[in-house]
Amino acid sequence: MRALSSTEVSSLSVLSIACVAVLVNAWRSDGEPLFASLAISGLAFAFSYALIPWTGDVFIRRGYKGKDLSKKNPIELPEAMGLLSALVYLLAIVNFLPFAFKRDIAAATFAPNDKDRIIEAAEIENGRFLHRFPLEKLASYGFAYGTLATVTILGILDDSFDMRWRHKFFIPAFAALPMLGLYFVDFGVTHVVVPLPLRPYLGDLVDLGGFYYLYMAAISIFCPNCINILAGVNGIEVGQSLVIAFLLLLNDALYLSPKLHQPHPAAESHLFSVYLLLPFIGVSLALLQHNWFPAKVFVGDTYCYFAGMVFAVVGILGHFSKTLLLLFIPQIFNFCYSAPQLFKIVPCPRHRLPRFNARTGLMEPSVATFDEDKPLRPIVGEALKVLGKLHLMKVETDGKGRVTEASNFTILNLWLVWRGPLREDRLATEILVMQTLCGLAGLWIRHSLALLLFTADNRF
Ligand code: UD1
Ligand code: MG
Repeated sequence: MRALSSTEVSSLSVLSIACVAVLVNAWRSDGEPLFASLAISGLAFAFSYALIPWTGDVFIRRGYKGKDLSKKNPIELPEAMGLLSALVYLLAIVNFLPFAFKRDIAAATFAPNDKDRIIEAAEIENGRFLHRFPLEKLASYGFAYGTLATVTILGILDDSFDMRWRHKFFIPAFAALPMLGLYFVDFGVTHVVVPLPLRPYLGDLVDLGGFYYLYMAAISIFCPNCINILAGVNGIEVGQSLVIAFLLLLNDALYLSPKLHQPHPAAESHLFSVYLLLPFIGVSLALLQHNWFPAKVFVGDTYCYFAGMVFAVVGILGHFSKTLLLLFIPQIFNFCYSAPQLFKIVPCPRHRLPRFNARTGLMEPSVATFDEDKPLRPIVGEALKVLGKLHLMKVETDGKGRVTEASNFTILNLWLVWRGPLREDRLATEILVMQTLCGLAGLWIRHSLALLLFTADNRF
């Protein structure tokens, strides 16, 4: 157990006291969900920030540890610490519910024609007020919680058994089942708006039916896995998740802005998204403090699955899954770029993270080698040579023109091919800046350029 420094203790104490004061005030008024959510997220930050160093040793003793492969003297660090973030997050969501629904509970338990009369306890016990309580709103939180708790359990399984990629790829789909069940019961909307150029052929709306559920299942599989494979550099898993979370908040703010006619029809969905994202940002910022270069802990697949599923839940239950994908542009690129290795067209080593050069202290592209025992199919070799010529990877050939090695197919290695050797934190920062710019461009496309394809932006 590492004790917190006195500066850490005093900062966390001040933050916690301020958050508790905000919470007490929020409860005394109408619940004030936004302030309550901010305060709970502050507490979630403080709690997980302290919990991580306190429990690191226990994780190591239980075998949850990993070597930091990109350091001169690799020491063993606690692995799977994202579990703490996920658990604190789940706790935060449960504690937020009374604030989210205080107004509704009050409205449901007061007699409609006599505001001063509280409905008799016997009546309440008979469940007579439930029809006036927005159960469908509560259901969204309940099923989101169920899905995130399930994906956390599955993440622990993965971190405990170090499962192979092909085995664990579909894991998140199981966790998404409760959420898809709710979507079926509550919304059931499976049609999509057709872009203008296709309308003469398809009409204004197309009903995708069962395919829409397959699409949502695919999002639930994609979001967690794509974060897990854009990994291997200190801080990158949490950093990219924070960038996506902040961009989603920005998108929510566009719908909740007082400049629009409020309440906007999509305001409820975007508030739901804000209330799920704020505590996520709280626990992730705390984790990043410990995981940023030089890392003191690793986040584990538990965190990657949990983070990806938070986004899937927010996008699906908030009804903006297509916008969500616009914030995953680097991850989608990384996934497509990785496909030849993921689908074993090209050999895939256990670790594809960039190679640490101990002499220079810098990161270089790591490579997959193709020796006589496992040569590439000639057509694949030719394709790699073309990619090499286009500077889309680093390729080595022998005297006979046979490809002997290629940089591993990840965006991190590609970035190093383009930029040359970089220090680990520099690499992570540059990737996060690039991701932020891509995300902002995505949002811009969504809210301005999309007008070329659709008749209106749904903000107006
Ligand atoms: C995924 C990637 C793998 C990459 C790994 C790194 C695919 C298909 N899999 O595998 O290529 O090497 O993530 O996370 O793309 N580690 C570091 N520094 C870090 C983070 C991780 O050295 O900043 C090492 C540690 O030894 C740690 C291990 O990576 O214990 C964690 O790997 P794990 O998350 O189990 O790998 P996968 O998710 O299976
Ligand atoms: Mg991983």
